[in-house]
Amino acid sequence: MGKDVIIACDFASAEETYAFLDRFGETKPFVKIGMELYYAEGPQIVRELKARGHKVFLDLKLHDIPNTVEKAMRVLAGLGADICNVHAAGTGKMMEAALRGLTEGTKAGKRPLLIAVTQLTSTNQEQLEAELLIRRPMEEVVSTYAATTKRAGLDGVVCSPLESPAVHGFLGASFLTVTPGVRLAGDEKGDQSRVTTPAMAKELGSDYIVVGRSITGAQDPVEAYERCRQEFCD
Ligand code: C5P
Repeated sequence: MGKDVIIACDFASAEETYAFLDRFGETKPFVKIGMELYYAEGPQIVRELKARGHKVFLDLKLHDIPNTVEKAMRVLAGLGADICNVHAAGTGKMMEAALRGLTEGTKAGKRPLLIAVTQLTSTNQEQLEAELLIRRPMEEVVSTYAATTKRAGLDGVVCSPLESPAVHGFLGASFLTVTPGVRLAGDEKGDQSRVTTPAMAKELGSDYIVVGRSITGAQDPVEAYERCRQEFCD
């Protein structure tokens, strides 16, 4: 895997999701299922998307005590997702527990990749300092969380494309950076703070880009997806 565009399917129902994905015909994009869709439809949505031929990033961002996260990951491992994630803020111990749960819960085939959210791409420096009381530059915070993630044995992090060079420089090119906060030129930033275009994300060395509204909100989502792929993958 690597160098792919993942579509954030932030839809309210399975019906809406399948109607959207049917527009792609035989092309089966890598998709991301977040909390909205998973809470609405339950685990069946993951099984169904896999059965339809999609790779699935199950973006549930687990963050709880290590024992709870380990047990939850054991269950999620059975769904067949390709990528799962946690919040690095849960600490190295929590991430180790998550990895154990995911590994032990994988009965057949390959364990899903496990990555950790460093700082949400909607968080800016001011919020980091005033609300989270983290008085360090964002890039340093992200790199430090990423180092803890790597020490815990995980495969990579979720971060802004702007932070990919620092993470790769610090932790090596094989440590994955999966990067939301991507917009086609001219599109609204919405609630995201640290954003780039797909072309810029490629230049900065992102391994996967996660694109939601620039594709799902486009007049022609298939064309927008192809444009993202051309800019990022070619
Ligand atoms: O619509 P947009 O492209 O902003 O969607 C980005 C997706 O990536 C959303 O589903 C959001 O939950 C997710 N995400 C993010 N920042 C993170 C982790 C995940 O935006 N750090």
